[in-house]
Amino acid sequence: MHVVILGSAAGGGLPQWNCRCPICSLAREDSTCVRPRTQSSIAVSPDGDRWLLVNASPDIRQQLFDNSVLHPREGLRHSPIHAVLLTNGDVDHVAGLLTLREGQPFTLYGTAGILDSVNANRVFDVMAEGVVAREPIGLDAAFEPVPGLRVTLFSVPGKVPLWLEGKTVELGAETETTVGAMIEANGRRLAYIPGCARVTDRLKGQIAGADALLFDGTVLLDDDMIRAGVGTKTGWRMGHVPMTGENGSIAALADIEIGRRVFVHINNTNPVLVEDSPERAAVEAEGWIVAHDGLSLSL
Ligand code: MLT
Ligand code: MN
Ligand code: ZN
Repeated sequence: MHVVILGSAAGGGLPQWNCRCPICSLAREDSTCVRPRTQSSIAVSPDGDRWLLVNASPDIRQQLFDNSVLHPREGLRHSPIHAVLLTNGDVDHVAGLLTLREGQPFTLYGTAGILDSVNANRVFDVMAEGVVAREPIGLDAAFEPVPGLRVTLFSVPGKVPLWLEGKTVELGAETETTVGAMIEANGRRLAYIPGCARVTDRLKGQIAGADALLFDGTVLLDDDMIRAGVGTKTGWRMGHVPMTGENGSIAALADIEIGRRVFVHINNTNPVLVEDSPERAAVEAEGWIVAHDGLSLSL
């Protein structure tokens, strides 16, 4: 199985357009110290030929340009992308669908809960009916979006997308609005969970034994954004479990077997983004990789 991390940052990317926090500033000034990163998306293929895109980031045009395996290969109009799967309805995961217009056929997969939010917004009708099929997928049942690639969606603790939040928001709910994907090909298993509010025993059971895990690396500590002085929201309020601390993902996942552990969906305020920081060294010492754009895995 071929896996390419097209975008390793959370919503806003790195640097974020309006942010002068130290990490965004470093990303503008010194890319050897902080590598710029685009927003959250991966591409997966069983054979290097036909690809599944998981999440469509606002930066998709740049991501497809930067990764030649995703360039058109034959005829006048073509794409190696056969299908697109959404793991939630966040702007950083759906806005790129608007770039995938131009009459290119593919199938769009997601839970009914996630596809409903796309269906309810008429701007997405630029992916014309009859060209782009929308396939709702139930939880915990395998489907094959690309021949040779088996995918199973499972709910993880999360919340509705920010743009769909009402006056009150249920945090940590395990519903169809935030899912993880177990992706299997040629006997290898990749677990992809870019958003997760809490690590539960059920989640651990689902991903134990995977050859690789790409996991929510939005925040280092629950109060990253507050410490950085850029906001008042905690990781929990945003639906993201911190990397560190007693209930953090590093500790919570330490006792299950996983081939490679990789943090993705990293917010621009997370200190692990600084290459030579003690925070980066500490996370790596725990056996985790901090993803950068273009990082590829062969499983
Ligand atoms: C998130 O993951 O918390 C969202 O991407 C926030 C947003 O939509 O900006
Ligand atoms: Mn996000
Ligand atoms: Zn910033």
